[in-house]
Amino acid sequence: MKGVILAGGLGTRLYPLTKVTNKHLLPVYNRPMIHYPLECLTRSGIRDILIVTGGDWAGDFLKLLGSGEEFDARLYYAYQKGEGGIADALKLAEGFIGDDRMVVVLGDNIVERSIRPAVEAFAKQDQGARILVKEVQDPERFGVAEIEGDRVVGIVEKPTEPKSNLAVTGLYCYDAQVFEMIRAIRPSDRGELEITDVNNMYLEKGQLSYQALEGWWTDAGTFESLYRASTLVREGGANHDDGPGA
Ligand code: G1P
Repeated sequence: MKGVILAGGLGTRLYPLTKVTNKHLLPVYNRPMIHYPLECLTRSGIRDILIVTGGDWAGDFLKLLGSGEEFDARLYYAYQKGEGGIADALKLAEGFIGDDRMVVVLGDNIVERSIRPAVEAFAKQDQGARILVKEVQDPERFGVAEIEGDRVVGIVEKPTEPKSNLAVTGLYCYDAQVFEMIRAIRPSDRGELEITDVNNMYLEKGQLSYQALEGWWTDAGTFESLYRASTLVREGGANHDDGPGA
């Protein structure tokens, strides 16, 4: 199992902070944001990790993280030109992944608990994808999953009238079919290749499973969520193996 962290984008929701650095290098409490998704992967046993970044400060990731020894990881880097969306950034991982499976984490997603249980469940799956969902108060900000019984029946990106309060978090498990699917999708109205379209393709093939994420989860891409992330980390840390305070 390999890991991919998507840390590109312009971070326009955090202007003017992101006029002079990449969003994922901003502090979340006492560490740069990128440390959290990186530790999320290493704590679930994943060592080979590709960081996809872009923009004017890509070199700063190398300065900060180097080859990854400090994190007990082997780090690789890819450069995304422009602003093509999450699925567009993931395309760059094709050569790195080969025929392996992967856990993809959005660089601004922070979790309280280890995702090892989800990674282990995915490893037991024959093929396909696995998403992690979390109940939220403001589902319209996210991809929203509609669940019937134990199946996901649809995912809608930022719906105005959400059919549930289950956000699709930015932690995804995929097999190597994901790259064919990315080639098959077209840009959305916001001009991006949407990861939600990819997940819906797995769904149509009957190959999408899901589970609820344990502990708190937040993104950190807006001023409010960045502030919340810092507060949550300050109060209890992130990526624990056994829940709060472990
Ligand atoms: C992205 C995805 C969305 C997902 C969210 C999680 O949204 O498109 O489906 O729920 O990440 O953080 P974005 O942050 O690009 O608006």
